[in-house]
Amino acid sequence: MALLQVFKFPHPVLKQHAKTVTRFDDELRRLADNMLDTMYEEGGIGLAANQVGQLKQVVVMDLRAEDEDDAEKPRPARNKEPRVFVNPKMLESRGEIVTEEGCLSVIDFTAEVKRKQWIRVAYQTAEGKEREEAFEDLAAVCLQHEMDHLQGRLFIDHLSPLKRGMIKKRLSKIAKSA
Ligand code: NI
Repeated sequence: MALLQVFKFPHPVLKQHAKTVTRFDDELRRLADNMLDTMYEEGGIGLAANQVGQLKQVVVMDLRAEDEDDAEKPRPARNKEPRVFVNPKMLESRGEIVTEEGCLSVIDFTAEVKRKQWIRVAYQTAEGKEREEAFEDLAAVCLQHEMDHLQGRLFIDHLSPLKRGMIKKRLSKIAKSA
């Protein structure tokens, strides 16, 4: 178990395509475990391997991770629901949903993005088993966001060219001054 560095925009690794995973070994499982730890530590609900500098088609997700800092109401002991998706591919999709998205690789910025409300995805487990599963609402949004990462796309690439240009300029400035 180890925490990994999360690369921020405009790091070039975020624009690259991740490669299909063909070896389902301990190294892959260690990567997935470390990505989950890193995601929990940073307070995200999803993370793609590109974001930690590994060009492999690996995505982790835990929609319950978001609850951690919500001290508003008492809740039962937190149940983690870590998920690992290797080589995920969208088979089918329908509907539309607009939600406010953020990203651990895009500092201090969120924006409304339109996605498919329902998707069916084929993927492999960290052990290499083939699976198919349908997702809706937040789970569908999160997976689409992470699968975009594997194609070198960020959520800000879904915004209008004008807005995207402004955001990228601002983010590049922040990155330079950091
Ligand atoms: Ni992201």
